[in-house]
Amino acid sequence: MIKGKITFPGDKSISHRSLMFAALAEGESRISNLSTGTDVQSTRECLEACGIDIRDDGDDVVVTGGKFADPKQPLDCGNSGTSTRLLLGLLAGQGVNATFIGDESLSSRPMNRILDPLSQMGLKSKSNNGKLPITIYKSDLTGIEYDSPVASAQVKSAVLLAGFGASGETSVTEPILSRDHTEKMLKGLGGNISTHGLTTTISPLTSPLLSFDLTVPGDPSTAAFFAAASSIVPNSEIILNRVLRNPTRIGFYGALQKMGAGMDCQEQWEDAGETIGNLKVFQQPLNAITITKDDVPGLVDELPIIAILATQAKGKTEVRGAEELRVKECDRIHAICKNLKIIGANIEELEDGFIIHGPTQLKGGEIETFHDHRIAMAFTIAGLVSDGDIILDYPECASISYPEFYDELERLNQ
Ligand code: S3P
Repeated sequence: MIKGKITFPGDKSISHRSLMFAALAEGESRISNLSTGTDVQSTRECLEACGIDIRDDGDDVVVTGGKFADPKQPLDCGNSGTSTRLLLGLLAGQGVNATFIGDESLSSRPMNRILDPLSQMGLKSKSNNGKLPITIYKSDLTGIEYDSPVASAQVKSAVLLAGFGASGETSVTEPILSRDHTEKMLKGLGGNISTHGLTTTISPLTSPLLSFDLTVPGDPSTAAFFAAASSIVPNSEIILNRVLRNPTRIGFYGALQKMGAGMDCQEQWEDAGETIGNLKVFQQPLNAITITKDDVPGLVDELPIIAILATQAKGKTEVRGAEELRVKECDRIHAICKNLKIIGANIEELEDGFIIHGPTQLKGGEIETFHDHRIAMAFTIAGLVSDGDIILDYPECASISYPEFYDELERLNQ
């Protein structure tokens, strides 16, 4: 059973943004509980390559804001879509000449969703057919009103950050609200940014942002794997400490509760404009759930673990409107369906999601992670209830978001 308490490294989305916004601020900012994942390290290294001073001070990271320089080498974003997309917008707005590269997975992901609006703003760039490597050239940018075809916080953030360096206002309208950390944080740091419904508008940055001290709340997407483990392994009960409970990020916890898991938010408080809470999750029988397009942005990163839960839930779980999963760190719909079939689940692949009939006694098998951290972690959790060993081809990829994953799971698995 899974028993005990756990505290998580900082939310990945807020960690990326805290480094970037500290770089735009006047003077020193201090960040505690930064994500320990290699994705956030990629953002740090890219900013350092642009001349931003970032140092460790004990467990904290201290960033001195300043002017951006052209990097001498290509910016290596590793596996990180958030680093690439947000930095494309931010550096375009700061008039930086830079080339972006990444690993094989990142190099296959669509970047036109960023390059299209940025080129409408006047950015000159070169890409490999809308993919990495991408080179951006210092350009005069003009604000636009961008109607985004996808509900993506990365697209929204990239365009808004480019707007800091554009003439006139820049606005982004999205079809469904995606995570709102960029808007929330920039408002708190003196950015001229406002939101009306699904439209966010930003004005050029005429003076640096305010420096800040921030403790990044625990990552709810990482905590989701432990909440899931605790809701399917018999007799489990876990306390998830200091987890971010931003309303645009808690879709998974709402879904888990709806499925019937035992859940109790023991304490909830506000810090730096974000809601944070301590959450108890315990095992109870689960029922199937239906997830539709409107639900997807609020739990987009949690769909691999929801698929595992669905195999243990009674009835037909249907996930639709989740075609974005096909362009994440891997084609997650394919990865989920292929691997769940190997371990005996009853799953049907759809173009925009999947259908799972449960409950099923999962068996052991060899899992292809596609080097995707969330596939690796989701199938490790499946291994807690399978009647044979689950063997991952590349377990190390969990480090992309949570290097401590296996050690913490072992500590809590009694
Ligand atoms: C992120 C946004 C999401 C999410 C990713 C992090 C962010 O991507 O999947 O892990 O920090 O803005 P999209 O908003 O592009 O779907």
